[in-house]
Amino acid sequence: MSTQSATDVMTGKEVTAGPIVLLGSPGAGKGTQAKIITGRYGVPHVSTGDLLRDNVSRVTELGKKAKAIMERGDLVPDDLVLDMVGERLVAADCDKGFILDGFPRTTAQAEWLDRFLASRTFAGRFLPPIVIKVQVGYNQLLQRLTGRRTCPACGRIYNVYLQPPRREGFCDVDGAPLIQRKDDSEEVISERLKTYERQTLPLADYYRRQGRLYEVNGELPVEQVTAEMHSLIEKLRAAHD
Ligand code: AP5
Repeated sequence: MSTQSATDVMTGKEVTAGPIVLLGSPGAGKGTQAKIITGRYGVPHVSTGDLLRDNVSRVTELGKKAKAIMERGDLVPDDLVLDMVGERLVAADCDKGFILDGFPRTTAQAEWLDRFLASRTFAGRFLPPIVIKVQVGYNQLLQRLTGRRTCPACGRIYNVYLQPPRREGFCDVDGAPLIQRKDDSEEVISERLKTYERQTLPLADYYRRQGRLYEVNGELPVEQVTAEMHSLIEKLRAAHD
C-alpha cells in the first residue's frame, strides 16, 4: 500500500489529511475504509479496537482489564482508553494527521479529543476534525459481522458472504489462515449494537451541532464508499487553504 500523500486534482496541492474521525455502528465498514484511506494520505490508521485487542493478546495490564468487557460487548472505561489513545496520537507518524476508527465513542471521549486538537497542529496548522459517519441499515449489520474474517498477519478484512477470499479460509495477500473475532458471535453482536445505540450514536448529534458531521452511504460497494470519502476529505481540506 502506498504511503504517498494525496494531491488535490483541482489545485495540484498536497493534501494534509489532519484528524479524520470515522463514526458508525459495529460492522458499518469503518475498519475496511480506514485501511484504504490511510495509504492515500500517508497517515496512520488508529483503531482503538485493534489497540485494545493487541493489549489483550499481549496480556498487558490494560489487556487484562479490557478482555472481559470486550467479550461481553461493553465499552472499556474512558480513563483507560484515553490514556492509550493519548499515548498513540503523540507519536511522530501522527504529524500530518490520523484516521480514528472506533474513537471517540462517548461524549467524554469526544470532549477530550476536542481539547487535544485545540493544542495540536498538523504540518504547522490547526485543523478541525473531519467527522464521517458510515451509514448502514440494521439488517445488513448481522451478516457483515457474523461473516467477518480477518487476517492476523496483515489485518486485511474479509467477509465470507460479501467479500470472500479467493481461497476459502486463507488471506489473499499472505496466505495466513483467517480468524474470526471473539466478539462476532450473535449474542455479543446484539450487545455491541445496543451499546452503540445508547453510548455512541449520540455523538452524531454532538458533531452535528458543531457543523462537522458528514454522512456517507456505507451500503454501496467498498470502492464507491472510498471514493465518496476521498472527495469529501479533499473538498473540506481545500476549504482550509
Ligand atoms: P471495534 O474493534 O472498534 O469494533 P466496532 O466498532 O464494533 O466496529 P467493527 O470493527 O466491528 O466494525 P467496522 O465498522 O470496522 O467494520 P469492518 O470494516 O470490519 O471495538 C471492539 C470493542 O473494543 C468494543 O466493543 C469495545 O469493547 C472496545 N472499544 C473499542 N474502542 C473503544 C472506545 N473508544 N471506547 C471504549 N471501548 C472501546 O466491516 C465489517 C464487515 O463488513 C467485514 O466483513 C467487511 O468485509 C464487510 N464490509 C465492509 N464494508 C463493506 C461494503 N461496503 N460492502 C460489503 N461488505 C462490507
